[in-house]
Amino acid sequence: MRVVNNVALVTGAASGIGRATALLFAAEGAREAILDWNCEAGGETARLIGERGGEAVALVGDVSKEEDVAAAVRATVDRFGRLDILVNDAAIEFWGKAADTKVEDWDRVLAVDLRGVFLCCKHAIPRMLEQGSGAIVNIASVNGLVGIPAHAAYNAAKGGIIALTRQMAVDYGPDNIRVNCICPTTTETPMVEAVLTEDLRRYLIQQHPLRRLAQPEDVAYAALYLASDEASCLTGVILPVDGGWTAQ
Ligand SMILES: NC(=O)c1ccc[n+]([C@@H]2O[C@H](COP(=O)([O-])OP(=O)(O)OC[C@H]3O[C@@H](n4cnc5c(N)ncnc54)[C@H](O)[C@@H]3O)[C@@H](O)[C@H]2O)c1
Repeated sequence: MRVVNNVALVTGAASGIGRATALLFAAEGAREAILDWNCEAGGETARLIGERGGEAVALVGDVSKEEDVAAAVRATVDRFGRLDILVNDAAIEFWGKAADTKVEDWDRVLAVDLRGVFLCCKHAIPRMLEQGSGAIVNIASVNGLVGIPAHAAYNAAKGGIIALTRQMAVDYGPDNIRVNCICPTTTETPMVEAVLTEDLRRYLIQQHPLRRLAQPEDVAYAALYLASDEASCLTGVILPVDGGWTAQ
């Protein structure tokens, strides 16, 4: 098992990539806290983990609210005694070119997608510093690497996560805290299912050298590697999980 004796806090684990990551980490030996604002679905992830012989607690909170994040980190440490791994996955998608994006929508997307990552790191890192080690995996997107039409706020947030990853890798490398980032391509989760018609799906598949979209488990396996000791010499890495899309 690759993360045995580790305690992980996974945000956004009620659905999609976050749930797949939480299930995989639990199968690989981690004890987990799940932070999501969807109480029912977060509880379902924890229940699935328990059913498969793992241990997880579902915490309800909004990653954009400092009091919720601080409480979640406290609850994780109270329950499990430590915090080794943080996976920042929670996000909302938003469509719109810059001139068409209302200021309140910009603020809402940046609050969840970028400030949420900052807040979780801000509250988890002091605990990792006390322990003398830690691994943070941020889920950004290929949208943070290249321009994708009509995603001004979302892409800005994802680009911000990439910059913040490198910044924190530099700041906390000497403290043995590794910070890495994954940039998935279109991944078949509830976030995209709503807009993914069969025609669009076929078109997108053709755009990828591997002629496929990503599945949540593809991203989860990359997160597992980056969080595990196998990646102990990796920090500040921005890893596309994109079927070769950004290689073109
Ligand atoms: N699906 C894709 O195609 C794709 C591609 C690239 C990057 N990503 C990124 O992967 C991550 C997961 O995406 P997904 O497709 O699994 O999405 P999803 O919508 O299936 O899951 C996101 C989860 O985050 C939770 N969440 C949202 N806002 C929250 C908040 N403020 N506080 C707490 N929880 C909150 C939701 O309740 C949900 O459980 C996101 O960061 C997303 O931007 C997804």
